[in-house]
Amino acid sequence: MKVNLDPIQIAKQKAALEAVKHVKDGFVVGLGSGSTAAFAIEALGEQVKNGSLHILGVPTSSQAFQLAVENKIPVTTLDEHPVIDVTIDGADQLTPELFLIKGGGAALAREKIVASASKLNIIIADQPKKTALIGENNQFVPIEVLPFALAIVKETIIAMGGRPVVRECKGKLGPVITDNGNAVIDAYFGEIVNPAELAVKVKMVPGVVETGFFIGLTDIAYLGYAGGVEKIEKLRK
Ligand code: A5P
Repeated sequence: MKVNLDPIQIAKQKAALEAVKHVKDGFVVGLGSGSTAAFAIEALGEQVKNGSLHILGVPTSSQAFQLAVENKIPVTTLDEHPVIDVTIDGADQLTPELFLIKGGGAALAREKIVASASKLNIIIADQPKKTALIGENNQFVPIEVLPFALAIVKETIIAMGGRPVVRECKGKLGPVITDNGNAVIDAYFGEIVNPAELAVKVKMVPGVVETGFFIGLTDIAYLGYAGGVEKIEKLRK
């Protein structure tokens, strides 16, 4: 357990600790990416290390893979375990209807694949990430794009009314390259009234590998705040 955390980190950790209560012995667990999911991986690792929990993890990124290894969580693949019992992942923004934007860590494609293979999807975040509409507060939508198609996807996003920005590396010159060898466009659309419609439109653009719109994929969200953890539940059928 980490100490000396700031209030946002404490909120993230509270949400993570609530989510890991859903993980039972013998489960195959989708391991999300980002700083909030890292708290969940760490908490699961503590139980694995003390022998009270036996799980297999399916990492959603190279970051999640490394954290799983460091925390002694045995990893498996979707080939070996195509059905995941529960996935715990973070989000960049979410609404009370559980419309999400994900992909701030450029792991959106694998995150969505793992989420779609999961019986239960739990999202964890600090409460300020909850907004009435996604796209509020200048939040961009990450879009994973084949490098070959970058220019034409940018033009198409502009034609849809968005402002595309190719994500650049920090600490290295050049565009971010995902775990799948692709580029990322961060698209600013402003407040998005109909995210399901826009999600389909963007996904249909040739060259788009995946979008950061996560619509109808989440069962439960835990949102940490100073006073506790808010739970939003929209169990999928
Ligand atoms: C990774 O690509 C993302 O989807 C993350 O889950 C998301 O950006 C949330 O990250 P933090 O928990 O670090 O805010």
